[in-house]
Amino acid sequence: MYQYTEFDKQFVRARAAQHRDQLERWQAGHLSDDEFKPLRLQNGWYVQRYAPMLRVAVPYGEISAPQLHVLATIARDFDTPDAALLAEAQATQNKIVGLAPQLTTNYGHFTTRQNVQYNWIPLSKSAEVMDLLATVNMHGIQTSGNCIRNTTTDELAGVAVDEVVDPRPYAELIRQWSTLHPEFAFLPRKFKIAITGASEDRAAIGWHDVGLQMVKNAAGEVGFKVLVGGGMGRTPVVGSQIRAFLPWNQIMNYLEAVVRVYNRWGRRDNLYKARIKILVKAEGQRYFDEVETEYQEILTKDGALHTIAQAEFDRINACFVSPALDLPSMTDEWLAKAEADISIEAAKNSAFARWIVQNVVLHKNPALRAVKLSFKRIGQAPGDATADQLDAAAALVRQFSAGEARVTHTQNLLLPWVRLDQLHALWLEAKALGLAQPNIGLLTDMIACPGGDYCALANARSLPLAAAITERYQDLDELNDLGHIDFHISGCINSCGHHHSGHIGILGVDKDGKEWYQITLGGSDGKVLSGAAVPGKVVGPSFSSFEVPDVIEAILNTYKELRQPVFGRHEYFIETLRRVGQDPFKSAANGARHPTEAHTT
Ligand code: HEM
Ligand code: SF4
Repeated sequence: MYQYTEFDKQFVRARAAQHRDQLERWQAGHLSDDEFKPLRLQNGWYVQRYAPMLRVAVPYGEISAPQLHVLATIARDFDTPDAALLAEAQATQNKIVGLAPQLTTNYGHFTTRQNVQYNWIPLSKSAEVMDLLATVNMHGIQTSGNCIRNTTTDELAGVAVDEVVDPRPYAELIRQWSTLHPEFAFLPRKFKIAITGASEDRAAIGWHDVGLQMVKNAAGEVGFKVLVGGGMGRTPVVGSQIRAFLPWNQIMNYLEAVVRVYNRWGRRDNLYKARIKILVKAEGQRYFDEVETEYQEILTKDGALHTIAQAEFDRINACFVSPALDLPSMTDEWLAKAEADISIEAAKNSAFARWIVQNVVLHKNPALRAVKLSFKRIGQAPGDATADQLDAAAALVRQFSAGEARVTHTQNLLLPWVRLDQLHALWLEAKALGLAQPNIGLLTDMIACPGGDYCALANARSLPLAAAITERYQDLDELNDLGHIDFHISGCINSCGHHHSGHIGILGVDKDGKEWYQITLGGSDGKVLSGAAVPGKVVGPSFSSFEVPDVIEAILNTYKELRQPVFGRHEYFIETLRRVGQDPFKSAANGARHPTEAHTT
């Protein structure tokens, strides 16, 4: 994985020291709350429903074992409210009419944008936490505010079998270009870039302000397909293609033009119309033309300032060498024996067999596999990792994956460098830690935002629904029978839980101070199994939290009744839905309403 330079390390340490100074000045009354707010936000310190929320950047999701250990220490020693605050929060949550509240403490939360969040750290401890993070080159820079946020990428970047180009050096170049870019510190709104170098889009690029897909042209030259103007929120829009092929070394010049025109033309008068998607929707070709004009000017007048020199690319690329793995000479015999040993273990133990199918992914190197640790299990919110689990995960990462892991878009951890002959040993250890649920890609591998248990913007809680559905679908045979389903929950229209792209999406809405949920069907993030990125369609009037689990069950039962065999398996949920349309699912959902609930539209 990428190693920060001395400059980067010094920069992160200086940021931590600067934050300490700002905190102390605020504590001493020299800075008002209003003056301190933008300063803390620039380091990822929000204040939420009950407590501050810290967002820690994990550039393109790559994380090391020592970093995971530090995240564990922060969860253990700092992610704790004082008793009175916790009691108050619990009492307030208990008053909500609906499913049981889900407040817990001492954990880190993996997010869809490959970062990590904490929900309980007191601001008074924030300087200590920043210092700790800086010991492993971590920080919260550009995890908040109207700037270019963490660039996300394919969790399998650098190891995927379908990879055309490794996107990580480009993600790193974009990180360096965008970090503290003086012109782009106050954009009309936040700006999110995702990049993939594989033929399958596992980075949801269509749902980003800019989505980049690395391709090769007929001459074998590397370049980018560029999408612009994707985003969720109350107006879900899939990005439009602005360039079919941009030579790789022009990406910075081009992004400069894309963001510059947005900065100039984007709406600053209305928060809900400020994202680039609204500009692209409103201006269409005019925006594209202006970007082209700007790009040409950057190439001529500005002297193509950001053209990536080959030597610079080579320097960055050299930092992404595969780890020195202790691999035996990989003969055909070795591979055959390792595979045979796995088959023997799989025949003895169906749980291991399932895990191999669901959680283990092929690797560019046939002697290796990428393995997903599942952070979706009963009793814990999706993506939450306790301090002990973070420590344990760090130990697994060190022992089995050359010290490197990835935070995934679906809020799990991926180990990219696991030896084929160590899969069984890894499974045994991960299982003992409760991180080997063979549910990757299945219903319970759901995405959920923190919702109304923590988030001050929420209309409704997400986590009680996640818990209820997880409890209801514990039977692995049933889960497997339901097959691949993307199930996404957001607590409000800001769409942090990506409900628009769920095959089944749930959105918290608020009416008369009560929690209600809209259900959408048929969304896609752009993965092969889901088809081209598209927002789901709302099923009808909203449901109460008590109804939602029954409604989901009714929808899934309808799927089981209607699905047909295809390619030697049965259709996945999304395939049946696309074939038969929404109506049968709509009727099933409405039929599952509780007669006593008054429904909202
Ligand atoms: C409790 C803390 C959080 C707050 C206050 C918050 C706030 C917001 C807001 C206001 C937006 C909409 C911005 C806009 O469209 O202009 C947003 C978008 C987003 N958030 Fe969060 N968020 C929080 C936590 C999270 C978490 C935990 C995740 C991941 C699980 C997440 C992922 C996202 C994503 C992916 C978007 C972009 C959706 C889009 O394309 O429009 N957020 N967030
Ligand atoms: S979707 Fe809404 S409720 Fe959920 S984290 Fe984002 S802002 Fe909060």
